[in-house]
Amino acid sequence: MPQKKRLNVGLIGYGFMGKVHSNAYLQAPRFFDLPYQPVLKAVCARTPEKAKEFAANWGYESVESDWRALVRRADIDLIDIASPNDTHAEIAIAAAQAGKMVCCEKPLARSAAEARPMVEAVEKAGVANMVWYNYRRVPAVALLKKLLDEGRFGRIFHYRSQFLQDWTISQDLPQGGQALWRLDAAVAGSGVTGDLLAHNIDMALYLNGPITEVTAMTETFIKERKHNLTGKVAPVTIDDASAFLCRFENGSLAMFEATRYARGHKALFTLEINGERSSATWDLHDMHRLGYFDHRDPGEVRGWRSIHVSDGDQPYMGHWWVPGLQIGYEATFIHQLADFLIAAGGGKSIGPTFRDGLATDYVTDAVLKSARSRQWEKVEGQ
Ligand SMILES: NC(=O)c1ccc[n+]([C@@H]2O[C@H](COP(=O)([O-])OP(=O)(O)OC[C@H]3O[C@@H](n4cnc5c(N)ncnc54)[C@H](O)[C@@H]3O)[C@@H](O)[C@H]2O)c1
Repeated sequence: MPQKKRLNVGLIGYGFMGKVHSNAYLQAPRFFDLPYQPVLKAVCARTPEKAKEFAANWGYESVESDWRALVRRADIDLIDIASPNDTHAEIAIAAAQAGKMVCCEKPLARSAAEARPMVEAVEKAGVANMVWYNYRRVPAVALLKKLLDEGRFGRIFHYRSQFLQDWTISQDLPQGGQALWRLDAAVAGSGVTGDLLAHNIDMALYLNGPITEVTAMTETFIKERKHNLTGKVAPVTIDDASAFLCRFENGSLAMFEATRYARGHKALFTLEINGERSSATWDLHDMHRLGYFDHRDPGEVRGWRSIHVSDGDQPYMGHWWVPGLQIGYEATFIHQLADFLIAAGGGKSIGPTFRDGLATDYVTDAVLKSARSRQWEKVEGQ
């Protein structure tokens, strides 16, 4: 067997996504035939002691405490950005200018204005790039995409999607700093709009095409919280809940909702799509199942199917266990990395690219703009 080309990875951030990505670099070459062998070359985080612990646990060869030093290293081929949203643009642009492949966590940036130069940088440098909107690569979602592309749904009338959580209901929860940067708009860009709805929007753009205009409402239920960095009570700057109606370029209408105040829901990401001939539903809490209804079925057996997407001829599943056995959340990142490396081996990028990430940022910008203006707003950049 010829030796695979080594691909030296430099990871920035060792939090939740740092772990998920590290796992993907280790597992992807074991389950997929890839043109590269990823090598965990260096992890970067600001606290060297913690970074060393992380490196030892996951098998990184070295540690950096300044991302600039990591980007400058000649032995790094790919920069993977798994740090908070306010760091994405500067790192991605520097990495592209240094000729590295760049994988960036979502949202691409805190706004479309911040994301645009990132797209320009990767496209000018001609480097492979990707945004980690991982839910596209849930096998049931990939199957839905295939059914849509085969034209089984006919004209699409409706799309609806939700992302519900409940972890910020307590008045005592502080904002800002390590782990709670999501509650600080200066770091996150926005609240649930950029954090949760960004996933729903990326998925919708992928499955149902461009969104042209939106009308939205947002709410901040708890107006003040202690800020972890200053120790003082400060106004809350994020949206706690966000809902919008929109129109797609294909003529369909849609409703989206996200909140962190839906008591009892931890990560309820759902979608439904209604076409002339078929409908489908999907739900992250039961992520292997695709609900599918086909009006062309004979009347006496017509009804909703609950397809357990776990057989070898269904998307991605031939790479895993035996038919009928399930895979987990982490597999969506493994799939995305495998697709990315296969494309990069042929000199290409796969979606969602930085340009796709920018398209989502244009929609979240329009949602936030509409919530302020209380008017319908056009989505720019379409
Ligand atoms: N794809 C998904 O489903 C998904 C899920 C969660 C988070 N995310 C995204 O991933 C990113 C990270 O989120 P997380 O949940 O892993 O956050 P986290 O708070 O768990 O981890 C962030 C890490 O970044 C490090 N960091 C912060 N500033 C840094 C800097 N200047 N240089 C180097 N390291 C720095 C922190 O020390 C920490 O290790 C965010 O953009 C978030 O939106 C995506």
